Amino acid sequence: MNSPFYRQHWQRISLPLLEQFQTELWVCHLHCLVPAIAGNKWLKLKYHIQHIQQYEKTGILTFGGAFSNHLAAVAAAGKAFGFQTHAIVRHDSVVTNPTLAACQAHDMQLSFVNRQVYRQRQQPEYLATLQQQFPNWLIVPEGGTSALGLQGVAELQLAQTPNGPAKLICCATGSGGTVAGLALGHPHLPVLGVSVVQDPGLAAQITALVPQQHNWQLLPDCSGCRYGRFDQATLGLCLELSRQNLPLEPVYTGKAFRTLLQQLEQQQIAPGQRIVFFHTGGLQGLDGLQQQQLISSEQYQQLKSAELRLWHQFGERLTEEIPLRPTDA
Ligand SMILES: Cc1ncc(COP(=O)(O)O)c(C=O)c1O
Repeated sequence: MNSPFYRQHWQRISLPLLEQFQTELWVCHLHCLVPAIAGNKWLKLKYHIQHIQQYEKTGILTFGGAFSNHLAAVAAAGKAFGFQTHAIVRHDSVVTNPTLAACQAHDMQLSFVNRQVYRQRQQPEYLATLQQQFPNWLIVPEGGTSALGLQGVAELQLAQTPNGPAKLICCATGSGGTVAGLALGHPHLPVLGVSVVQDPGLAAQITALVPQQHNWQLLPDCSGCRYGRFDQATLGLCLELSRQNLPLEPVYTGKAFRTLLQQLEQQQIAPGQRIVFFHTGGLQGLDGLQQQQLISSEQYQQLKSAELRLWHQFGERLTEEIPLRPTDA
């Protein structure tokens, strides 16, 4: 594959609220030739992939829920880079859905486990047993959040927007690797992670990942909805922004974006600043939301078409290359 693999794009957002608070808001997108590894996925995976190539590992074994963007990304990366993939999927019964179908289409093997077993995913004894079953495989934690994952995220440079230096970075947060990596890579900038999971241990987990960093903050998503669910205001914002060709989904990026705007409105964030919102991807999740009838097919079409229009708009204005070796397959 000769063409560059991944590129960084900037998109300026205009909204009356931003004008009112004299705030410049830039969204940073990472565009991959393999769409499932757009956003934070490529950053979190790239050093895992390099490790596999360097140590000639068989593949990646990892963990995720039945609609996991991370699993979709690992499966697509395995196909693109020519390594095997196996997922331990949290679910009470064997299911299929668009995410898992895409994983299987990329030859990922799936093992379904119930919540009780899944809870052991960080326990050394459980991991040792898995490693025995998969001797030459690299075990990657849920969400790709590991030292290697952080290393990739920390390389992303968000401090300089096309219009000047940023004062704040914001992103959606699940397992914490992205916010930790961004804090590591931008030690002089505050990084705001909007948590879309109800995990009381998340802040401690991030602290354990980056004990030296004190430039990050975690906020709960303002909708208060549990993980995987969302309210109409969040979906409404995603639909509104799709008209500006900003493709969001309401489970991660939509919640984070809305929380950021609410923080501005409530003046928890000072007006007159230049802010960067890192788009962490996850648009494959829209397929599952439509399948579960959490969004209508019209809403799905509207959100998806924003994604297509955005990539069309960016066209050839591309800025970065990744040196790893994808297969030609
Ligand atoms: C779309 C999207 N945004 C944000 C996140 C959160 O990233 P992290 O798990 O690194 O906190 C995820 C999960 O990886 C995700 O899929």
